[in-house]
Amino acid sequence: MDIKNKPIGVFDSGIGGLTVAGEIMELLPRENIVYFGDTARVPYGPKSPEVVTQFAFEGLRFLLSQDVKLIVIACNTISATCLDQLCASSPVPVIGVIEPGARAAVTATENQVVGVIGTERTIKSSAYEKAIYSLNKEINIHSKACPLFVPLVEEGWLDNEATLYTANTYLKPLKKRGIDTLVLACTHYPLLKLVLRQVMGESVRLVDSALETAKEVQRILIDKNLKRQDNSPAQYQYFVSDNPEKFIQVGEGFLKRPINPISVIDPQN
Ligand code: DGL
Repeated sequence: MDIKNKPIGVFDSGIGGLTVAGEIMELLPRENIVYFGDTARVPYGPKSPEVVTQFAFEGLRFLLSQDVKLIVIACNTISATCLDQLCASSPVPVIGVIEPGARAAVTATENQVVGVIGTERTIKSSAYEKAIYSLNKEINIHSKACPLFVPLVEEGWLDNEATLYTANTYLKPLKKRGIDTLVLACTHYPLLKLVLRQVMGESVRLVDSALETAKEVQRILIDKNLKRQDNSPAQYQYFVSDNPEKFIQVGEGFLKRPINPISVIDPQN
C-alpha cells in the first residue's frame, strides 16, 4: 500500500486519547486512524517510569503491527516518561502531546501565571515546566497531580457530585494562586471540562494539547508528503485491551461518532 494511504496510530492508556483523535478527525477528515487504548492497565499515571516505559513499547509495537505511517502518543504520562526512547526506536515518526500543550498554555496566558494539572507521573517529571520555560522563562507555574481524575473519566463519571467534590478538593490550592490559565496536562481531563469550568470559574482559560497536537500532525503530513490521497471516506478502527463496552459507552458520548469496529487485543502478544 502507498504509505500516504496508511492510517495514523493514536495511543493512550485508555479513553483520554480520544480527545486528541477527535481533533485529528475534525482537522484531517480524510485520514484513517487506528486507536489503541490500554484499558486493561489504565491508569498509567501512578505507575513507575519503568512500567510505563514497558507498556509504552508494547503499545508502540502493536500500532506498528497495524502498518501506521505516523504515531501520536496521545498520553501525557507516556510523553513525559519515554517519548525520546519511543521516537528513537520507531521506523515511523512519533509525536507526543507535551510540547503542543505547552505552546497552547504560553499562547493563552496573559498574566503569566499558569496552573498545570496532570497525573502523578507527569507532574513528578516536571515535563510541562521544562517545555513551558523553554518557550517563556517569565511564566510562573503551579502544578498539581490529580490522580483520581483518570479513574473517574474511565468510569464515565464526568459531571456528578463525586467528581465535583474531587475537583474542588484538588483545585482549591491552585485557585488561590491567581492563575489565568489551567493546562489540562492529561488527555483524559478535557472530558471533565464542565466540572473544571464550574470549579475554576469563567475567568480561567482551560487549555489542552488536543488541537495543537492535531495541527502538528497536519504539519508533519504536509512536510513529509504523507497526506492520504484516497478520496474514499476515512475509516476509524479501535483496539482496547479490556472492557470494550465501557470504552464504547463513554467514548461515543464524547466523540459523538460510533466507536465501531472495536477489537480486544493483548498488547503483550
Ligand atoms: N491520558 C493519560 C495522560 O494523558 C492518562 C494517564 C493515566 O493512565 O493515568 O496522562
